[in-house]
Amino acid sequence: MSALFTPFKLKDVTLRNRIAVPPMCQYSAVDGLTNDWHQVHYPAIARGGAGLVIVEATAVSPEGRITPACTGLWNDEQAEGLARIAASIKAAGSVPGIQIGHAGRKASANRPWEGDDHIAEGDSRGWQTIAPSAIAFGHHLPKVPQAMTLDDINRVKSDFVAAARRARDAGFEWLELHFAHGYLAQSFFSAHSNQRTDAYGGNFAGRSRFLLETLAAVREVWPENLPLTARFGVLEYDGQDEQTLSESIELTRLMHQGGLDLLNVSVGFTIAETNIPWGPGFLAPIAERVRREAGLPVASSWGVEQAEVAERVIAEQQMDLVMIGRAHLANPHYPYSLAKKLNVEDPSWVLPAPYAHWLARYRLAE
Ligand SMILES: Cc1cc2nc3c(=O)[nH]c(=O)nc-3n(C[C@H](O)[C@H](O)[C@H](O)COP(=O)(O)O)c2cc1C
Repeated sequence: MSALFTPFKLKDVTLRNRIAVPPMCQYSAVDGLTNDWHQVHYPAIARGGAGLVIVEATAVSPEGRITPACTGLWNDEQAEGLARIAASIKAAGSVPGIQIGHAGRKASANRPWEGDDHIAEGDSRGWQTIAPSAIAFGHHLPKVPQAMTLDDINRVKSDFVAAARRARDAGFEWLELHFAHGYLAQSFFSAHSNQRTDAYGGNFAGRSRFLLETLAAVREVWPENLPLTARFGVLEYDGQDEQTLSESIELTRLMHQGGLDLLNVSVGFTIAETNIPWGPGFLAPIAERVRREAGLPVASSWGVEQAEVAERVIAEQQMDLVMIGRAHLANPHYPYSLAKKLNVEDPSWVLPAPYAHWLARYRLAE
């Protein structure tokens, strides 16, 4: 029996297996609106068998987009397009999730395949970025953000709440708050990017405040019976990892008490100078520690796509879900190929009936 292909229940939601597709920006929207690309991409991946498909980082406000081509959820027209995507993911047997976020000082950038850098000053496609402090990320993202006022902080929290409400009404059943990857929330938590001297900076409590308050505000509108999750970078690989990790675990405990149901464990990416030990499943021991010490279910990604790695991290309870990203871009039916490798005989674990019926005894030529 494969551990990877056992169902996972969280609140009232049951995933058909432990495979999730993490959010992956398509950089293909106009004015935050989804279009034919998204309408094809998401159901294709959902049909491939993952238990959960999380729609890409979707901005809570125009200035919260990473690039001008990122999706948004600050108006009803955007919500209508996303509702069709949620329905098509569900029709394929997968649970529809969405990540909502604000890119902070990393916003106003060109698409990865068009430079991945900040849009040049004076280019009308760009905009003023905001962050906890007026400190630039540097390197390819040199734009200095405006330090947020308390009004700005309150406005962004309300934007998160409005986006969560629209996500709920659009039919999403799994919400992931983007608290990771050096974007706005992560940059509040990290002393590298947060040098505030008011209640939203300084010590652990101050640097955690924006994340905890945003979570609490979203909790008010997100249904109790549906998973409320976050993606958070629990360490930076900057030489101060033990301290960051123990603070991150403490924050995760507080978020769990505040209604967080699962943490998607990731890297902070708040600074460019890091020493990340990339390799298959390298975050698994970190995820396991968060799971054990913070006492909540966890998921993680970055190199967990190989069958033996995915199976092991679930079987050894290092993670409750594996998030498999790029392998799904290469092959939307990736879960089916994992099932074959793990000798899962009955493909109805992974595929909808119109495919599963024909493939139960069919042997694909490798
Ligand atoms: C095209 C692309 C877009 C991504 N967009 C997001 C995103 O919107 N939000 C996020 O948290 N991570 C994003 N990521 C990171 C992925 O969620 C995932 O963590 C990463 O691809 C590592 O997993 P993998 O090794 O299985 O690909 C993106 C990655 C890729 C390749």
